[in-house]
Amino acid sequence: MLLRQEGRALVVRTPAKLNLFLEILGKRPDGYHELETLMMTVGNYDTLRFTEENLPAHSSASRSSMSSSASDSSLPMTLACHWGGAPNCSPGSLPTGADNLVMRAAQLLREFSGTCRGVHVELTKRIPLSAGLAGGSSDCAATLVALNRMWELGLSDQQLLKLGAQLGSDVAFFLRKTPVAICRGRGELIEPLAQPMRLHFVISKPASGLSTAAVFRHCHAAIEPRSVRPLVDALYSGRLSLAATRLHNALQQPAEELNSDVIRLRRQFARLPFVAHQMSGSGTSYFGICSQREQAESLAAQVRSTGRDHVFVASTQS
Ligand code: C5P
Repeated sequence: MLLRQEGRALVVRTPAKLNLFLEILGKRPDGYHELETLMMTVGNYDTLRFTEENLPAHSSASRSSMSSSASDSSLPMTLACHWGGAPNCSPGSLPTGADNLVMRAAQLLREFSGTCRGVHVELTKRIPLSAGLAGGSSDCAATLVALNRMWELGLSDQQLLKLGAQLGSDVAFFLRKTPVAICRGRGELIEPLAQPMRLHFVISKPASGLSTAAVFRHCHAAIEPRSVRPLVDALYSGRLSLAATRLHNALQQPAEELNSDVIRLRRQFARLPFVAHQMSGSGTSYFGICSQREQAESLAAQVRSTGRDHVFVASTQS
């Protein structure tokens, strides 16, 4: 997550994530599942532009307005959202209502802090939706960090993490601003790791998406859970072909039962010379790993030529 001041606006660039490992350890009394997962940010970003103004600016993009707030004197909070990725991959209408995680984060911050200050957010989406890439959680974390600064709330990292956990299980990973982490609990307990060797991914997102809740409803806790450690050891000793044998996503099987596009992508990726491939998070996006960017670009062209999916290349930071 990168913040920069541009005149009166605070601009945040916030990344997508991939899960190279995800194991289900059990179902919890609160209905969530206990996880062990390895998450990595990749170079596919949404951009959020925050401006504070007394009256919301007008724009042609889809927008919503929310002025229900801590007090009657609260200033408006508005969100405008447009697609900034490849034009032929636009997901259509983008959700800008009060249930958008950006608006929920702003509203929660306002309730928690008692501030009446308002904001206009311009969200440029490039991270595909309902994809298992955590675009919504990433935007949510960016909003908490940016508004804490812009509204001069002075909340600690710990307080932001607590608020983030109320908004989604993946939000904590982005708040920690680490490129890689092992995440446990329901995803909010973060063990930050350094960046391993540089990896290049071909990511394909079919037009269909999956609801995270639906995929978790279909999953089963592992009887003999795998550990993330062997994958971490292989990655951090630079043995990519060994790491490739240790990729795992326990949500892939239930996702395949719910959505045949995931099966189609698995078969398509299996025919190409990726080091390894699997679904990310709760899907439906599917990724293949390459050791070289040029090879990723060339395999992406092959994946793209055979279908109508949203296919792109993203690398980890060097
Ligand atoms: O936390 P988040 O809102 O992203 O989760 C969406 C849904 O996914 C939850 O309502 C829950 O049904 C399911 N989930 C789960 N176990 C987790 C994370 C999410 O069952 N660790």
